[in-house]
Amino acid sequence: MKKIPNEEELEIMYDFSLEIPTRKYVEEPSILMHLGNLKGKKILDLACRTGHYAFLFQKKEAEKIVGVDISPRMIKLANRKKEMLGVQNIEFIEKDVKDLEKLDEFDIITSIFLLNHAKSEEEVRTIAEVIYKNLKEDGIFLSCTFNFHHKGYIRDRYKNYKIDISIKEDDYSNGSPVNIEIIPDQHGRIFITDYFMDPRVYEKAFRDVGFKSFKWISLTISEEGKEKFGEKYWEEYIAYPYDILIKAIK
Ligand SMILES: C[S@@+](CC[C@H](N)C(=O)[O-])C[C@H]1O[C@@H](n2cnc3c(N)ncnc32)[C@H](O)[C@@H]1O
Repeated sequence: MKKIPNEEELEIMYDFSLEIPTRKYVEEPSILMHLGNLKGKKILDLACRTGHYAFLFQKKEAEKIVGVDISPRMIKLANRKKEMLGVQNIEFIEKDVKDLEKLDEFDIITSIFLLNHAKSEEEVRTIAEVIYKNLKEDGIFLSCTFNFHHKGYIRDRYKNYKIDISIKEDDYSNGSPVNIEIIPDQHGRIFITDYFMDPRVYEKAFRDVGFKSFKWISLTISEEGKEKFGEKYWEEYIAYPYDILIKAIK
């Protein structure tokens, strides 16, 4: 029988999730497309893990990047990467996003699969407040999170995309656990638990803390992804996209 990975092993293995087709050919290009030109921008990346997006933003000539993550192991690895690359303009901070003070007035704040960790309406509201106070006027918040606009989470639906998402006992109430299993080629299995939240909770929280606009945006399959796998491959994802972007303006 295969050994069940412990928390540390899962954290380390998660980097391989960036290889799966939906992350590589849909998520990452969609995020870069919606952020536009990053040259000279100050960016705060919430739930930065080992800094994948932070280093990407640095490569795209952002002026300053701050990454925040609650996991000491992830921040340690991010700092090791920074040291090895000799990068100066990224800072990594170990902290629960909910406790984050005002660090600066950022042009852009990103959070890739963070909001889906919130178990209650209060947590969503606290995170929205933190984002609001760290953005400059007209600053942009861009997030990629689980798409709870549809309730089509059945086992094996996404198996072609090397991810499995199911909601225990079909319980779509706020805070209900969402079981995610990511299966990158030849790189073990990654298990994560997230939490269901009615999309209207996010809309209300962001409106209540003062954001002047809040939009749900579908991700775009890159031309590279279409060429590599063919249009038919993406049909199930298009019918039941498991992720979605949020773009909010302060
Ligand atoms: C699913 S991973 C996503 C990481 C990265 N953004 C990516 O897309 O690859 C979620 C990350 O959020 C972090 N996290 C969860 N809750 C957090 C919180 N309240 N404050 C800061 N980081 C948190 C975890 O430690 C983990 O690194």
